[in-house]
Amino acid sequence: MNHHLIKKYNVAGPRYTSYPTVPYWNDKPITVKEWSKSVKKTFDETNVHDGISLYIHLPFCESLCTYCGCNTRITINHAVEKKYIAAVLKEWDMYLAMFVDKPRIKEIHLGGGTPTFFSPENLKVLIDGIMDKSVACKDAEFSFEAHPNNTTEEHLKMLYSLGFRRLSLGIQDFDPKVQTIVNRIQPFEIVDKVVKQARKIGYTSINFDLVYGLPLQTRKSVIDTINKVNVLRPDRIAFYSYAHVPWVKPGQRLFTEKDLPQDDEKRALYEIGKEKFSEMGYAEIGMDHFALNSDTLYKAANEGKLHRNFMGYTHSYTKLMVGLGVSSISDTWNAFAQNVKKVEEYYECIKNNELPIFRGHVLNKEDLIIRRHILNIMCKFETSWEKDEEQCKAVNDAVKRLTEIEGDKLIVTKPYHLSIRKPGRPFIRNVCMAFDAKLWRNLPQSQIFSSTV
Ligand SMILES: C[S@@+](CC[C@H](N)C(=O)[O-])C[C@H]1O[C@@H](n2cnc3c(N)ncnc32)[C@H](O)[C@@H]1O
Repeated sequence: MNHHLIKKYNVAGPRYTSYPTVPYWNDKPITVKEWSKSVKKTFDETNVHDGISLYIHLPFCESLCTYCGCNTRITINHAVEKKYIAAVLKEWDMYLAMFVDKPRIKEIHLGGGTPTFFSPENLKVLIDGIMDKSVACKDAEFSFEAHPNNTTEEHLKMLYSLGFRRLSLGIQDFDPKVQTIVNRIQPFEIVDKVVKQARKIGYTSINFDLVYGLPLQTRKSVIDTINKVNVLRPDRIAFYSYAHVPWVKPGQRLFTEKDLPQDDEKRALYEIGKEKFSEMGYAEIGMDHFALNSDTLYKAANEGKLHRNFMGYTHSYTKLMVGLGVSSISDTWNAFAQNVKKVEEYYECIKNNELPIFRGHVLNKEDLIIRRHILNIMCKFETSWEKDEEQCKAVNDAVKRLTEIEGDKLIVTKPYHLSIRKPGRPFIRNVCMAFDAKLWRNLPQSQIFSSTV
């Protein structure tokens, strides 16, 4: 890896799970009328053929993992479960009222927080409540995020009986020192047990979330972690770059910046991981995912069908994604809306029969063009455009901004086409930033994004 390039391109930048990125959504909040109109339109256009996806945010966790950048509520009071599920089902009813037909569900993803904080019985109430008024597509995919420490065999059996076939285990790191400093102790034996139980029950895809750049990680500790991963052979691995955003997540101040591997060292951890995953038979997918060639993510990447949304890379995609629960983001392709982040505010909206959205963005023509290019770059490492003027304006500006990156031999441009060279892949977020017209029109005055490398 070229140290000079890392120094040069390691700047603060978005992870591009959406375009426009959330800080650049319109200042004026989206109105319920605008949002409902967009939901209805996309539903009418796509439900019959493609179906719709649901993301359900279950925010509760029993303890705080100090590195965590997600929207969580820490509590050991499990009495919160029933009230929360009732609120989510009521929010779902508000969406059902916008639909002319029964929704055809293509995907459900339970994210968190910790979905396995909830009891198996309460998760059944939630999924039955959703599915009672919907139809599952033939090729529907249900998945959930699981914390190995509280995922019981009963959880696995119950969710399997409800149609779930994929689970994503939050591993992060197996090293005891790293686990201690991030306040997430989970011995290998526990993970091993959950993986064996899941396979025995019949789950067909197991993902491990790992993070590089965590405090106290070293090259050796990352190698040890990956050797342990290799014993369990998950189908997929997400190898996330640690996003350090202590101004949003004060929990990240519980360790110091001196404990974090920086720049070259952080990138070296990714490169070590990448090399090891390749030796283990995993292919690199997109920016930070790896998959065995038997996994659908691998097949999708090979067929050019990879997609990226707020949860990262996915192999299936519907234009309409309804996000339920606190902080969830919904997407109609033409507009985004996000729910309020605090549980109490969420309950208040639901009690008043109001959609709990507090901000959003209706995409204009330029946004839609740029959204497509950023998605192509993130998922296919290339993009191309038509000769028409409007396309060219957005792209020409980007290509001009990319002169230096091209000079560094990280990308190749030719008329109406751009592709990322292999050495350019670590800098994919920098390439996307060149397209980000909204960012260039209004460069942030303070740091709002994590580092790109
Ligand atoms: C919302 S968490 C849910 C995981 C689940 N609650 C658990 O504890 O196993 C989803 C994933 O986001 C990733 N993540 C959380 N905070 C992060 C951060 N600051 N930087 C990078 N990745 C992060 C972790 O890999 C985590 O497994």
